[in-house]
Amino acid sequence: MSLAPYHIGLETLNQEVAEANLALQGVLPSWLTGMLLRTGPAKFEVGEQSYRHWFDGLAMLYQFWFKENQIRYTNRFLQSGSYLDALETGRIYRGEFGTSPQRSLLTQLLTMFIDRPLTDNGNVNVTAIADQVVAVTETPTPVAFDPTTLQTLGNFEYADDLAGQVTTAHPHFDFKRNQIISYQIQFGRRSAYAIYSIEAGTKQRSLFTQIPVQQPAYMHSFPISEKYIILVECPLTVNPLRLATIRFHKTPFIENYRWHPEQGTRFHIIDRENGNLVNTCEGDPFFAFHYVNAFEQDGSLVVDASSYPDASIIHDFYLENLRSGTETSHKGQLNRYYVPLQGKSVRAEPLSDALVEFPRIHYKRCNGQPYQFVYGGNSQQSHNFIDQLVKVDVKTGAIKSWQQQSCYPGEPVFVAAPNASAEDEGVILSLVLDASQRKTFLLVLEAQSFEEIARAEVPHIIPFGFHGQFFEDITEPMSNHHLHR
Ligand code: CO
Repeated sequence: MSLAPYHIGLETLNQEVAEANLALQGVLPSWLTGMLLRTGPAKFEVGEQSYRHWFDGLAMLYQFWFKENQIRYTNRFLQSGSYLDALETGRIYRGEFGTSPQRSLLTQLLTMFIDRPLTDNGNVNVTAIADQVVAVTETPTPVAFDPTTLQTLGNFEYADDLAGQVTTAHPHFDFKRNQIISYQIQFGRRSAYAIYSIEAGTKQRSLFTQIPVQQPAYMHSFPISEKYIILVECPLTVNPLRLATIRFHKTPFIENYRWHPEQGTRFHIIDRENGNLVNTCEGDPFFAFHYVNAFEQDGSLVVDASSYPDASIIHDFYLENLRSGTETSHKGQLNRYYVPLQGKSVRAEPLSDALVEFPRIHYKRCNGQPYQFVYGGNSQQSHNFIDQLVKVDVKTGAIKSWQQQSCYPGEPVFVAAPNASAEDEGVILSLVLDASQRKTFLLVLEAQSFEEIARAEVPHIIPFGFHGQFFEDITEPMSNHHLHR
């Protein structure tokens, strides 16, 4: 089997490093103090068994602590229930996105009626709820950890019992209303999307509204505008009874879903004042993990997304396919959707040929508002892995880019300068694998020019991960207003 040049970014990292001072090339802005916290899959084998999908690996936490032109680095496994069960049994014990526990026939018979817990392998994103920093995946069981030591503190306990088996690892934070907005999907004979809010500083999910659904869609994230919550149902859907019993059967989570292009992609618009479903409208089928932003314009909503023509990208992300460098079937691109508040049809328009995956914006200033700049990853060649960072001006289509030979960058996190006057005044932080040097480095770009100002080499290869957040203030106890999104 041939191997992709970036396959070393998809192998297990076992090494944990504490408080390493990274050698810095270049100079950091003097205002840049705080902590970049990231998570990602890092352990792809347990005993003799292997996880199958990029989204499955056991989570590692990464901390980059910025202070006075220095970067201190720590990484540590998240001691989730999934991780501890795997270590204890020497097997893949809990099912993940694309992997089911592999059991012998005897074990299957013996454990058929044992209710295995859902995964809590928080390898997708880092966020904050009340005073806790948590690592999250797509089940409603965040894992809390100490941001300074990366020590795992255990499953986060909500102060309510809102039902639901699946959620998003991309909750929103509304800085005006001072609340988290998210949803859970409730599978059963009557399935529903349950949208909830959490007032800052509390652990109480308050049910905002429920939207009944017959065949729930796989939804990785959702956009909000100032007045509306938008749930976008790509036609990758599941018979809910298959998932209601997922703990007992052998098909991995995502393989229960089917692609139904004839349904198109549906947009549900929910009024944030009263929870009313204002409109449901439909456009051509597409698939997206990530919505960049949404805002109101001339009586309709504008929704920007990193779109794919179908959901085959999920198949491309099986480790076997990624490591061998199999060409991905379809390239994604940044699309804009005009979603009417009245009327039934959604119009799509490309904003850029670039993929703009792992999109980030100046969140605090622009989320839900008209905006100008999105940062993301693009693949320049062969419809393949991300090998370029791009900054797209969504008003003009102009692109700035960063790339380097044999380098594969991850999510570009935008950190605004204090009292920034321009939307793009700040820096971009991205972890980059240099495949020929066999090293990962943290890249710092000046966001306006999109040019490198500094980089710091990490003492090992960090496997490709997904998301992270920058926390501005690390000396005081964490709270939501420190979360810089
Ligand atoms: Co994501």
